[in-house]
Amino acid sequence: MKFQTNEILNGKYTTRKTTKSVFLVPFTLLLIMFPLILMRNTDEPSPNMSSVQHMNNKTHTKGCDIFSGSWIPHSEGPYYNNETCKWMIDEQNCMKFGRPDDEYLHWRWKPNECELPLFNATQFLEIVRGKKMVFVGDSVGRNQLQSLLCLLSQVSQPEDVSHKYTTNVIYFKRYFFADYNFTLGNLWSPYFVRSKDADKNGHSYNSIMELYVDEVDEAWSSQVENFDIVIISAGHWFFRPLLFYEKGKLVGCNKCGMENVTDLAHYYGYKMAFRTAFKTLTNLENFKGVTFFRTFSPSHFENGDWNKGGNCVRKKPFSKEEMNLNGYILETYLTQVNEFKVAQEEASKKGLKFLMLNTTEIMLLRPDGHPNNYGHAMVKNVTFYNDCVHWCLPGPVDTWNELLLYMLKVQSHTSYGSKLESVL
Ligand SMILES: *[C@@H]1O[C@H](CO)[C@@H](O)[C@H](O)[C@H]1NC(C)=O
Ligand SMILES: *[C@@H]1O[C@H](CO)[C@@H](O)[C@H](O)[C@H]1NC(C)=O
Ligand SMILES: *[C@@H]1O[C@H](CO)[C@@H](O)[C@H](O)[C@H]1NC(C)=O
Ligand SMILES: *[C@@H]1O[C@H](CO)[C@@H](O)[C@H](O)[C@H]1NC(C)=O
Ligand SMILES: *[C@@H]1O[C@H](CO)[C@@H](O)[C@H](O)[C@H]1NC(C)=O
Ligand SMILES: *[C@@H]1O[C@H](CO)[C@@H](O)[C@H](O)[C@H]1NC(C)=O
Ligand SMILES: *[C@@H]1O[C@H](CO)[C@@H](O)[C@H](O)[C@H]1NC(C)=O
Ligand SMILES: *[C@@H]1O[C@H](CO)[C@@H](O)[C@H](O)[C@H]1NC(C)=O
Repeated sequence: MKFQTNEILNGKYTTRKTTKSVFLVPFTLLLIMFPLILMRNTDEPSPNMSSVQHMNNKTHTKGCDIFSGSWIPHSEGPYYNNETCKWMIDEQNCMKFGRPDDEYLHWRWKPNECELPLFNATQFLEIVRGKKMVFVGDSVGRNQLQSLLCLLSQVSQPEDVSHKYTTNVIYFKRYFFADYNFTLGNLWSPYFVRSKDADKNGHSYNSIMELYVDEVDEAWSSQVENFDIVIISAGHWFFRPLLFYEKGKLVGCNKCGMENVTDLAHYYGYKMAFRTAFKTLTNLENFKGVTFFRTFSPSHFENGDWNKGGNCVRKKPFSKEEMNLNGYILETYLTQVNEFKVAQEEASKKGLKFLMLNTTEIMLLRPDGHPNNYGHAMVKNVTFYNDCVHWCLPGPVDTWNELLLYMLKVQSHTSYGSKLESVL
């Protein structure tokens, strides 16, 4: 896949009223991938964890549904900032580009049944010592990877060793934490399956692509056996115009506008891609890792489509009265969860663990967590679109890693699955 300065994915869903009071403009989505200027490599980090260093001692390690809860005010500051983490990319570095409000940094996820412990980088690194972890998916998955880099680098500074593994060092990252012999990687594969551009005018934000929904993308499948922990996710790319191929035959499309091709909507491609990805993980001979499936991350465009002035200017979370999971976000989420549940059962027969990072509803409540227009310097004569898809760093996306650590801890304590214990 070629590098694009701006890859913008759109969709044309009818606007739906998602709540009693709030009106999100459904997809028309914007995913930005920046080829260069990815990493700031300037100042040394000056760790300051003093503000977040006390753990709550009421933590349950087992039996708590950490995904049902609410966002509660939290007076303490974030784990890191634009000065103490050098790994953020500009597009998500909202502080650097002058986002003026900071209330969005002062909320924590509170499960109903227990406390979610603060992120403890030392503890995380001890659990993953000698292991290899990889994010498979698109730039929203990479967003979580970058949050994790910022969180962990407060304790141990990784080295970017991507060049030792690939020539495509933008999309295929490897970071090595020598202190813990821990490797953290990223395998770029926004569809999990083989895809190619099919537009005679070349690739653009709404150009049509071919998706071979039953053929895994070797960019990740050829690498993933080297990893012990896999975090897989996908989403917004499926809203593009797509032609779906099965067994090499065109079976339908998403928004292709061709009279002789059935529009199966994005759900079809999404379902099939997850099916293929999960099957691959279940059947790869040498894959012995634990798989975390991070659920669909909703966007929050309001006041217009992404390319018609749509934005996300809210400064605080939605209340549950204002926003609930429904419409296409619910349907997209259910599509992947259904595939996951089937796959989880198949995987367990083979002694493989599939776990769910069930973050869709949690993030639906955080319209305030996106860069909007604070992911880049203001340049007068350049048109930028507001980014209501990715998440500011620091920001609510750090919660995904708190949840991940929690689940890793539970897994490393559980007696179920000896294979797992040997992995974690
Ligand atoms: C660290 O954070 C604490 C609390 O926010 C603050 O009082 C202290 O000055 C900070 N230290 C450094 C070195 O930035
Ligand atoms: C973080 O984890 C380490 C290792 O488990 C532990 O020694 C330390 O006390 C923890 N820090 C906090 C603030 O709980
Ligand atoms: C630990 O829990 C006890 C009982 O709930 C509480 O009284 C105490 O303040 C807690 N300590 C810390 C450090 O949170
Ligand atoms: C995911 O979490 C939500 C709450 O955030 C909950 O309502 C839902 O049942 C969970 N889904 C699964 C499959 O556990
Ligand atoms: C960090 O953000 C502040 C504004 O919040 C800005 O003044 C400062 O220059 C930024 N530092 C870096 C290294 O980007
Ligand atoms: C580091 O971890 C790898 C597995 O990820 C292992 O093969 C290797 O032996 C470890 N090296 C050391 C020095 O422990
Ligand atoms: C659909 O129609 C177009 C012309 O309108 C034609 O080029 C194409 O081959 C047809 N595709 C199929 C699958 O029949
Ligand atoms: C923006 O304007 C400046 C000054 O007129 C010009 O040099 C530059 O090429 C313009 N950039 C773009 C992307 O149009």
